[in-house]
Amino acid sequence: MKTLLTQSPEEAAELIKQGRIVAFPTETVYGLGADIFNEDAIRKIFEAKQRPSDNPLIAHVADAKDVDLLASHVSSAARRLVETFFPGPLTIVLAKDPAVSFLATAGLDTIGIRMPDHEIARRFLKSCGTPVVAPSANISGRPSPTTWQAVCEDLDGRIDCVLQGEPTMIGIESTVVDCSSDVPVVLRKGAVSIEAIREVAPETLESQSGAAAGTNRSPGMLHKHYTPRSKVIIVHPGIEPNSTNRDAFIGLARPTADFKLVRVCGSVDEYVSSIFEYFRECDRAGVERIFCESVDEKGIGAALMDRIRRAAEG
Ligand code: TXA
Ligand code: MG
Repeated sequence: MKTLLTQSPEEAAELIKQGRIVAFPTETVYGLGADIFNEDAIRKIFEAKQRPSDNPLIAHVADAKDVDLLASHVSSAARRLVETFFPGPLTIVLAKDPAVSFLATAGLDTIGIRMPDHEIARRFLKSCGTPVVAPSANISGRPSPTTWQAVCEDLDGRIDCVLQGEPTMIGIESTVVDCSSDVPVVLRKGAVSIEAIREVAPETLESQSGAAAGTNRSPGMLHKHYTPRSKVIIVHPGIEPNSTNRDAFIGLARPTADFKLVRVCGSVDEYVSSIFEYFRECDRAGVERIFCESVDEKGIGAALMDRIRRAAEG
C-alpha cells in the first residue's frame, strides 16, 4: 500500500470517511485513527500496528459534547474532569453507549474518550464528522511516535495516510482515568498529574497498575511497552554509570564519562518531550545501552519515570 503524506487535515479526514486509516498529530503523541463506527476500519488499525486484540482504543472527539454520544453514563466526577481538562492530555474511561463497537473497546463495556488540545487535530476531527478511535501510531511495543517521520519509520506502506504536523509538544501519552465506577482511578500517568486531578476529584485513587498487580482494568498496561531495541538502564543523579563508547545517556545533568550519544535536557518537560524520540535515535545509531537519569516523581516527572521503568523492564 502507498502511504499518502499530506499537510491538509481536510484531505486526511476524507480518507477517514472512506473507511481508511490515517495517522495524525496531537499534543501528546501521533495517533493512528479510524472512524469509530466503521468496524472494518478499526480492524485495519489492529492489523497495521500488530496490536493485541485485547487492548482497547481511545476515542478522540472534536467537542466535549461528544462525550455524551459515546458514553451511556457520565458521573459527576467525570463531568468535572471534562470541564477542567478538555481539551487536553486526559482520557476518561466511561460506560460505553451501545452504539460503540466492542471491537473498539476490545470487548470491554467501557470506552476511553479524549479531546486533543491541538489545532490540526481539532480541524481533522471536525472534518471527519465522527469520533475517531486512535492508539499511538507505532508498531506495538515500540516507543510512541512524536514526529511524522517516526510514524513513517514504523508504518510506511502499512497505513493509508500520514497527516504531517510539527513534533508533538508533550511527547508522552495522555493520562487515563477510569470514571466508570464511583471512585475515579488513574490507570496511566501522563501530563495531567494525579495532584491536578485530585484538585477536581479529591477521592481519585492511583491504580496499582502493571502486570505485578494483575489488574485488568487497563489491559494496555499489561502489555510490553515503550521499548527501544537498546537496553534501558535507570541511573540516579550524581552517580556516574560504568559506560562505554557504545552507550548513550539522557538526563538533566551533563555526565563526565564518554558516551556515543548524550542528551542533556534543560527541564523535566524537555526530558519528557525528548525521551521517545531519543530512544528511536539510539536505535538508529545502534547504541547498546541507554542510561536514563531518574527525576523526582512529582507532576509529569511521575509519568516520565513510569515510561522509563517500563522501557527498562522491556
Ligand atoms: O495520548 C494518547 O492517549 C495517545 C494519543 C494518540 O491520543 N493515544 C494512546 O493510545 O496512547 P494507546 O492505544 O497507545 O494507549 C491507550 C491506553 C492503553 O493503555 C489502553 O489499555 C487504555 O488506554 N484504555 C483505552 N480504553 C480503555 C478502557 N475502556 N478501559 C481501560 N483502559 C483503556
Ligand atoms: Mg500506545
